[in-house]
Amino acid sequence: MSNTHIQIFDTTLRDGEQVPGCKLNTSQKLIIAKQLDLLGVDIIEAGFPVSSPGDFKSVEEISKIVKNATVCGLTRAVENDIKVAAEALKYAKKPRIHTGIGTSDSHIIHKFKSNKDAIIERAVSAVSYAKSFVEDVEFYAEDAGRTDNEYLARICEAVIKAGATVLNIPDTTGYCLPHEYGAKIKYLKENVKGIEKAIISCHCHNDLGLATANSIEGIINGAQQIECTINGIGERAGNTALEEVVMIMKQHPYLNLDTKIDTTMLYGISQLVSDSMGIYTQPNKAIVGANAFAHSSGIHQDGVIKNRETYEIIDPKDVGVTESAIVLTARSGRAALAYRAKNVGYELTKLELDIVYAEFLTFADTKKEVVDSDIHQIIKTSKIYK
Ligand code: KIV
Ligand code: ZN
Repeated sequence: MSNTHIQIFDTTLRDGEQVPGCKLNTSQKLIIAKQLDLLGVDIIEAGFPVSSPGDFKSVEEISKIVKNATVCGLTRAVENDIKVAAEALKYAKKPRIHTGIGTSDSHIIHKFKSNKDAIIERAVSAVSYAKSFVEDVEFYAEDAGRTDNEYLARICEAVIKAGATVLNIPDTTGYCLPHEYGAKIKYLKENVKGIEKAIISCHCHNDLGLATANSIEGIINGAQQIECTINGIGERAGNTALEEVVMIMKQHPYLNLDTKIDTTMLYGISQLVSDSMGIYTQPNKAIVGANAFAHSSGIHQDGVIKNRETYEIIDPKDVGVTESAIVLTARSGRAALAYRAKNVGYELTKLELDIVYAEFLTFADTKKEVVDSDIHQIIKTSKIYK
């Protein structure tokens, strides 16, 4: 069975940049966009052009330099937004307009003070208008996660007729459980007339920590695009993390789903985004966190030193991390101490190791982590040198 290609739609520069205090200037965005293009993402959502002159300029400049990816600009279902986005995207080799509207009862009643039929009409006009500028038009049904499936199918059918090439089904509030989100995608695949003319996209937020699980359920149930950000940054609790969904597909080949991502660039680009935005990545973050390949308990360290695969499901080199780390703490065992001592030039005999280990434990109880200079100090002042 041949693999289904899952398109990676990166929205670090749009949804990701909505994190308070993480605003980037155009030159920072250009550096990130270049790296995303090299990483192999299929689509770069470069910004929301009508939102500010700065965002317009960023989308325009990114459109000029991106060589391979489609460049996308976000709009509301508002003519002027669409016209401005088309203008910002005019230099893109492959432009896409991403337009849409809220479809849940909560959005229709409270945000738009409207009704379901009128919202469908607005969606259709927005897609038709966007189509007058570009061929590739993605429609988002905002808050699709809390929209009833029957109505969602109706609006999807209408926008496909108007020319939408991609249907984005956002779980905007991160509310869905994985089986519910998967069932929603399956329902649309089975009930929307003309669905074969468009692809379905997952756009999941992480309010309940389920963004990655929901996106994976989405593609297992027939979606062909995932919208995500580097390090999972984004509004509130963030978006689906690009590095997580990509590595899930790579590490589970029997799913028969793959991407074009050069995974060896993941760690580097994670650092670039984190440094440019001044947003710290939690140490236990999957794939790219400082501790993702660090082992500190004696039992794990002994296993990893004997064979990395005992406690690691990913080869760190596959994501651009040079090697696994054996961290020395008061929980470390003799194997870890011998390993780290050897790395800094001491080949200890069994007897020497016993002596140094006792002194190491006393020292380690006074410090969070024992570093290379401490190892020298412990060995040099230990009884084996007296
Ligand atoms: O979360 C969301 O619904 C969005 C849309 C604007 C695509 O970001
Ligand atoms: Zn979003």
